Amino acid sequence: MAPASSLDILLPDLAATEALAARLARLARPGDAILLDGPLGAGKSALARAFLRAAACDPGLEVPSPTFTLVQGYELPDAASFRMAHHFDLYRLGGADEVAELGWEEARDGVVLVEWPDRLEDLAPEDALRIRLTPLEGEARRATLRGWPGRIERLSP
Ligand SMILES: Nc1ncnc2c1ncn2[C@@H]1O[C@H](COP(=O)(O)OP(=O)(O)OP(=O)(O)O)[C@@H](O)[C@H]1O
Ligand SMILES: [Mg+2]
Repeated sequence: MAPASSLDILLPDLAATEALAARLARLARPGDAILLDGPLGAGKSALARAFLRAAACDPGLEVPSPTFTLVQGYELPDAASFRMAHHFDLYRLGGADEVAELGWEEARDGVVLVEWPDRLEDLAPEDALRIRLTPLEGEARRATLRGWPGRIERLSP
């Protein structure tokens, strides 16, 4: 049987999204790109925040939404398998040339989490993990994951 290349996970509430983010943080490695799709308020920033807190082993870590700064960088402790992560929100960007100016190449040495990744155009890494969050009733979301062959299976609850 071919290995799974996509996975649907029902997230009934924020805690379920945070648990998925913690599993992601355990499996992520330097050079990974995690692309977060979904409409306004879907929970892209909430997922990125929980990922960074899990990676930093610091549940109180301040993780502002990069709506205005466009990118926030994080240095992580030795316990994480990557030293550096960058959280991008590309909503306000016109296109890929502006992404380069935000320090995209340098950020790619660590882990990048990207909201509104359609703005990446040709810069979108082929080997990225793509997560689409679809709002359902109330707090529920459906997460549709694609990519990370060999690892995606371990993201199931
Ligand atoms: N299951 C869930 N997963 C994620 N967030 C949830 C969930 N249930 C409720 N929420 C709430 O939904 C909101 C999601 O907001 P968030 O800023 O993360 O969205 P976003 O996708 O980043 O939006 P934007 O496109 O504006 O950046 C938060 O207030 C969060 O607490
Ligand atoms: Mg956001």
